[in-house]
Amino acid sequence: MDAVPHMGMEIPPPMPGVKATSSENDTGPGGGVVAPVTTIEEALLTRRSCRAFLPTPVPRADVERLLALAARSPSNSDSQPWQVHVLTGAAKRALTADLVRAYDAGREADVGEFDYQPRADQWPEPFRSRRRRFGESLYRDTLGMAKDDIAGRRAHRRRNYDFFGAPVGILLTVSRAPLLGALVDAGLFLEALMLAARGSGLHTCAQASLTDYHTILRRHVTIPDDYVVVCGVALGYADDSHRLSTLRTTREPVASFATFYSDVTRRADSA
Ligand SMILES: Cc1cc2nc3c(=O)[nH]c(=O)nc-3n(C[C@H](O)[C@H](O)[C@H](O)COP(=O)(O)O)c2cc1C
Repeated sequence: MDAVPHMGMEIPPPMPGVKATSSENDTGPGGGVVAPVTTIEEALLTRRSCRAFLPTPVPRADVERLLALAARSPSNSDSQPWQVHVLTGAAKRALTADLVRAYDAGREADVGEFDYQPRADQWPEPFRSRRRRFGESLYRDTLGMAKDDIAGRRAHRRRNYDFFGAPVGILLTVSRAPLLGALVDAGLFLEALMLAARGSGLHTCAQASLTDYHTILRRHVTIPDDYVVVCGVALGYADDSHRLSTLRTTREPVASFATFYSDVTRRADSA
């Protein structure tokens, strides 16, 4: 397939399957040819939050291609309010070192740049139960941790700051000016990036936890004052041999969240 022109931005053809290898064991369960998915349905069904990556590098040209695809996302009046910062190598290691130092020192999270979520004890149902179910599936069922294993949970949370070992760490930011609309657009960009990654055999994890210390992020990358950090995104090849790679989440059935209307059963003026 030839490069596809898109209003001045050329998107090169997809890369072939890549051999992802672990540094310790080239032929281990984490190695082998990574087959890119070829349909949107496969991309949706195989995307998951990957929390264990191989060190296999992802070439810059490949990251640029994924970003060009993600930038095809719709946005309010085509405003394209996103800016991303891509960290690899020494730049990523330096950021991780600073974040981990703050976390290990017990530093409180910075006051959020926007109102992302309620406090853990203030989530209403049914979200509260779903969050609890996810926590149990991660900490108890996948990592084998007891409920009171605070040190174990902290050790896991700490791995966020290393982008779970991914070779590429992305910081997704959007304009503060039309913040709410820009956050919707950022969500579209984020999902598109994740699905495009599947098309190249890559995996991702969105990471709001990266924003815990957004003041540290701002020391490592140049984020204009009128932009906020939405989340981090870890990008790389999954380490399928890691127990965290066995975690799969569930979804509520369509009937629980969709209402279909075909007959007029409710008059607009009856309220
Ligand atoms: C905006 C956003 C931020 C997230 N932040 C984190 C995070 O900081 N750390 C983490 O391990 N997972 C994070 N996740 C992943 C969610 O926990 C995950 O999407 C959810 O449990 C559903 O699982 P799945 O992505 O594997 O389908 C985040 C997801 C989103 C969409």
